[in-house]
Amino acid sequence: MSKPNIITIDRDKKFSESALWEFQRSYFDREGIDAWVKDVPHYVTSNPFLANCYAQMTVRLVQDWVRKYPESKAHPFYIMELGTGSGQLSYYILKKIRELKKQLHLADIHICYLMTDFTESNLKFWDKHPALHQFVEQKMLDFAIFDMEKSKEIILKKSGVKISENSIVNPLIVYANYIFDSITNDAFTIKDQQIYASLVSLSTEASNMKHGKPVSMQQVKPTYTTAEVRENYYDNPVFNEIIHEYKHLLKDSNILFPIAGLRTIVNLKKLCNDRMFLVSSDKGYSIPAELENLGHPYIDFHGSFSLMVNFHAIAQYFEKTGGTALIQSPRPGIKTNVFYSGLNLAELPEFALSIHEHVMRLSPGDYFVLHRNIRDNFPQVPIESLVGHMAFTHWDPHIYRKITKQVCEQIVKADKEVVDYFAQCMPNMADNFYYMPQAYDVLFDIGLFFHTIRHYNEAIPYYEKSKHFFGERFDLIYNLAICQYNIGQVKEALAGFRYSLTFKPDSEETMKFIEYIENTEGDNLL
Ligand SMILES: C[S@@+](CC[C@H](N)C(=O)[O-])C[C@H]1O[C@@H](n2cnc3c(N)ncnc32)[C@H](O)[C@@H]1O
Repeated sequence: MSKPNIITIDRDKKFSESALWEFQRSYFDREGIDAWVKDVPHYVTSNPFLANCYAQMTVRLVQDWVRKYPESKAHPFYIMELGTGSGQLSYYILKKIRELKKQLHLADIHICYLMTDFTESNLKFWDKHPALHQFVEQKMLDFAIFDMEKSKEIILKKSGVKISENSIVNPLIVYANYIFDSITNDAFTIKDQQIYASLVSLSTEASNMKHGKPVSMQQVKPTYTTAEVRENYYDNPVFNEIIHEYKHLLKDSNILFPIAGLRTIVNLKKLCNDRMFLVSSDKGYSIPAELENLGHPYIDFHGSFSLMVNFHAIAQYFEKTGGTALIQSPRPGIKTNVFYSGLNLAELPEFALSIHEHVMRLSPGDYFVLHRNIRDNFPQVPIESLVGHMAFTHWDPHIYRKITKQVCEQIVKADKEVVDYFAQCMPNMADNFYYMPQAYDVLFDIGLFFHTIRHYNEAIPYYEKSKHFFGERFDLIYNLAICQYNIGQVKEALAGFRYSLTFKPDSEETMKFIEYIENTEGDNLL
């Protein structure tokens, strides 16, 4: 057998200068919203449970701040989401913030959510999204291109406002989910109380290359060598201090250094006059014990690729520049960590309490671990517990998708209070539907739920919504016709049954229905 022809893509490059990052950028730029349809896992950082945690902390900060500084009411509070992606999380957070503002009598305070990303295609998707439109109209939402590797300023697309040191009066709130691991990182090796830069070489088979780029990132093989780290390795003395401290903090390991993330933090801290609250959820390492004994960076390819975030380095940066890092106690699952500067938690008690409740006590990671266990056992879970679980998920369509069949099978024999609870919360779940290409049609499932419990009047609007987003098909038109028949709209039902035959001409049940209606209704149909 002939040996495969191996191509070297990169040789002994600083990790941050590796071609990996350019491939990553072009992947997100090229795929835009399709990245989520195809391969990039995003449920864990974009669900209603996590949205509730972030919204609660944010609104409590705003509430405490205006109580302490009443004059701050005259200025907007900006929330900036970095590397926003699909916008699903933004939508859930916006809804929750609007609800909390109302409940807490904060309606007169202007909170403006900035969805940002480096690629124009995501911004275009948000701009046309029907669910986001209402928030733009209410001046709660604006968009901006913000490239964490390059941008120095933020210009809002809708209002034209330029965010600068002079324009931001209140603390800047920043959300950074699943992003510090997806933009440029450096890598270091620590051994015998020395630190070395990890240099990466990339190679792949020639057959995996097209127009100078690898077709499949999974088939790109990284190998590593080391090089000396000179005294002023970075132009930022705090970064240098942090990396050199690892010589004494760790014995033998390979670590990442989230250089683009840290530069973004420096930049944003400056823009907001060093008054910032940052919350980030991701897989990563937060304490030295977790950073010890690691191999070279594990690159998790899934269309794009992701790494493990070095939250410890981010925490160090905040601590060394007068801020604070609240690192979640170690636990399984993704980590949610909070960083702030220019805020005194002793003066912001509701905010402090909400961090305790939503990050330290029951966090998005706890939710996911618990949910995954229940999800793996759904068939054994009785319907009374399923409804409780749906409440725990904040009526998340992504979860209902997995139990819809089970619910429809069991609901007909369920206690009235279970049926009523489901029925009462279905509108909340419909409101959590966020359209994306190839999104799951939970609207049909909600229609089916009401149909199954014979609430035909309530089923029809959901079937209609399903038609609006996902188009006509046999099941939908047929089910709609049944509901119409059951509420006495016989002519419409007959037309519907006839029309459904265009999608499935040999449907015997449809033909029987048509025959039955024609025979029983006779002259009434004229
Ligand atoms: C892995 S996704 C995470 C999306 C979202 N935050 C989530 O949790 O699902 C990374 C996102 O960051 C964006 N991105 C990549 N490089 C970026 C950069 N340099 N500046 C800003 N956004 C970037 C991508 O377009 C993509 O939307």
